[in-house]
Amino acid sequence: MELDKIIHERRTCRDFKKKDLSTGTIAEALDISRFAPSSGNVQNWYFVIVRDNEKKEALADECHGQVWMVDAPALIVICNKTEECTKKFKEKGEKFSIQNCAIISSYITLKATDMGLGTAMVGAFDEEKVRMVLDIPYNVTPEGIIAIGHPNSLDEDQDREDLKYHTYFESWGKKVFGKDSWPISKPIGKATKKASQATNRAKLKASGLLRKTKEKLKK
Ligand SMILES: Cc1cc2nc3c(=O)[nH]c(=O)nc-3n(C[C@H](O)[C@H](O)[C@H](O)COP(=O)(O)O)c2cc1C
Repeated sequence: MELDKIIHERRTCRDFKKKDLSTGTIAEALDISRFAPSSGNVQNWYFVIVRDNEKKEALADECHGQVWMVDAPALIVICNKTEECTKKFKEKGEKFSIQNCAIISSYITLKATDMGLGTAMVGAFDEEKVRMVLDIPYNVTPEGIIAIGHPNSLDEDQDREDLKYHTYFESWGKKVFGKDSWPISKPIGKATKKASQATNRAKLKASGLLRKTKEKLKK
């Protein structure tokens, strides 16, 4: 799949099929993601793959009761061994270590999309409690959880703001609206935005991923 297409098609999935996911499949998503960049190539990321139902329930509890997580056949807990970064980069290493984990998480979600899988990044949890559920040592921090599985439906398209509101040139706050700066400053009208969302919806329908999440969440 072409990269732009994968990026477009990745949508948070909170509605999984009751279908198992083999360790080999999870390993495939992780294996290529290892090639993500990391500060000084320290690769301070570690993964705890959780399939056990009781553990998934405990984790969902610690994620403020996000019960939909239990239906995912696996939860990948992204762990950060910060000291591997701070050893090399002193106090700057702490920030780097979190950035490295965030980057590999993105790679995992994109590779999973490429494999026809659904993922949801979960960050709303109490680190200490997740540590306790999984016996994670005190010097390792769980940074995020990726729910992964076969998607039943994907989330509704979430709006993305126009880049012109997020991009400056040469210094903070300096906007440029010249023709040359397209597409960054190209105004995107409501009609264009709607058309692009309709294309996304059509693509998802074509790939058989009907969006039932909203109804499911309403129940
Ligand atoms: C760091 C991070 C933490 C997130 N935490 C949660 C979470 O705890 N629960 C949840 O349902 N979604 C969570 N999300 C998913 C976002 O809500 C979602 O990515 C965003 O609304 C954009 O939608 P999209 O992923 O479908 O494009 C998280 C995403 C990120 C990147």
